[in-house]
Amino acid sequence: MDHFLYRNGHLHAEEVPLSDIAAAVGTPFYCYSAATLTRHYTLFKDALNPLPNLVCFAIKSLSNVAVLKLLGDLGAGMDVVSGGEYLRARAAGVPGDRIVFSGVGKTREEMRLALEGGIRQFNLESEPEMRALSEVAASMGVIAPVTVRVNPDVDAKTHAKIATGKSENKFGIPISRAAEVYAEIARLPGLKVVGIDVHIGSQLTELEPFEQAFRKVADLTETLRAQGHMITRLDLGGGLGIPYTRSNEAPPLPTDYGAMIKRTLGHLGCEIEIEPGRLISGNSGVLVSKVIYVKNGEGRDFLILDAAMNDLVRPSMYDAHHDIVPVIEPPPASPSRAYDVVGPVCETGDTFAKGRDLPLMADDDLVAFRSAGAYGAVMASEYNTRPLVPEVLVKGDQFAVIRRRPSFDEMIARDSIPEWL
Ligand code: LLP
Repeated sequence: MDHFLYRNGHLHAEEVPLSDIAAAVGTPFYCYSAATLTRHYTLFKDALNPLPNLVCFAIKSLSNVAVLKLLGDLGAGMDVVSGGEYLRARAAGVPGDRIVFSGVGKTREEMRLALEGGIRQFNLESEPEMRALSEVAASMGVIAPVTVRVNPDVDAKTHAKIATGKSENKFGIPISRAAEVYAEIARLPGLKVVGIDVHIGSQLTELEPFEQAFRKVADLTETLRAQGHMITRLDLGGGLGIPYTRSNEAPPLPTDYGAMIKRTLGHLGCEIEIEPGRLISGNSGVLVSKVIYVKNGEGRDFLILDAAMNDLVRPSMYDAHHDIVPVIEPPPASPSRAYDVVGPVCETGDTFAKGRDLPLMADDDLVAFRSAGAYGAVMASEYNTRPLVPEVLVKGDQFAVIRRRPSFDEMIARDSIPEWL
């Protein structure tokens, strides 16, 4: 459920008409609903209670500092994958002991930054990384809390580009070698084992692959404990999928996911950490865009928008579907037409949808891409020297620009011409 609904014939974000925001901010823009973000975070909390738990929002899905502050103030932890994300979480006021550091290639500088600023744990992904962290922590005279991300070799049954839990993927350490790696950690200075980490992929629409992976983690917990390791936390990653279409069969709900976690891991007495991104942010955001031209091509009609693949790359990158709806609600039984919905960037790949049924559209009409809160703004680029799209946060009847659109002068001023040229 989200808070983007038609009221009096206008699509609203909570109590604010999106057309009012468009008039104030210009298009395109991303718009997030505070109520939806809060609701989705709370669903996870409720699903895991009464197990001791920390819901760490995967910042990579939506990293605006205002959004992080909103979630952080609710008590959320954060899952970061770079020094930049770590600094964003801190800038939002999230204390280091609620931040977990994931990612396959943490650099020594990033490790130092997090150890200096405070960190809940590093999720280690390889032996070279483990040795590097040991050296960095020991040289600073501190102890780094760690888990090892194990690769359970299960098929997440999702898009190949976002599946991470098969042995051929670059992520984690094969679960079969985990005991060996934990033994080495115990011997290394500067490291302290606190638990186990697993993340098998994103946009999972079934619980079964999670359950398979978590059962393996349960067995590994017992094995490692028998070998004398203190396993007190299990970080289960993110990955629960969202409905991208209204007609789609809905993925499992956080309550089902939470119940499955309790069933498979509840007996171990561990603190449970999860790292959801998309389920919290995805349906909390829309991308609003304006029709520049309706172009009648040969045998097809194009809707040329002022948003493009650089603003929302998911359709061209993963063939992802986003529902596209008019901001002004069409009257019942009004005629529709199949449009190819495209952006103005000079590539055929700059296509959001082909043959999409929409009410008859005209130049300057506004449309909204639904489910664009996750992996939308964060994956945007300035391709074609198009400014990064501004972000707006709505709460009740208030809205605020939480990242403004840069001017062309600012963008161009970042380049410099060497004096020898
Ligand atoms: N934890 C780790 C270690 C991850 O790698 C990810 C996502 C998450 C948590 C959050 O997963 P989520 O709950 O959001 O599924 N750009 C792609 C998605 C990439 C996901 C990468 N890892 C897309 O637009 O679909």
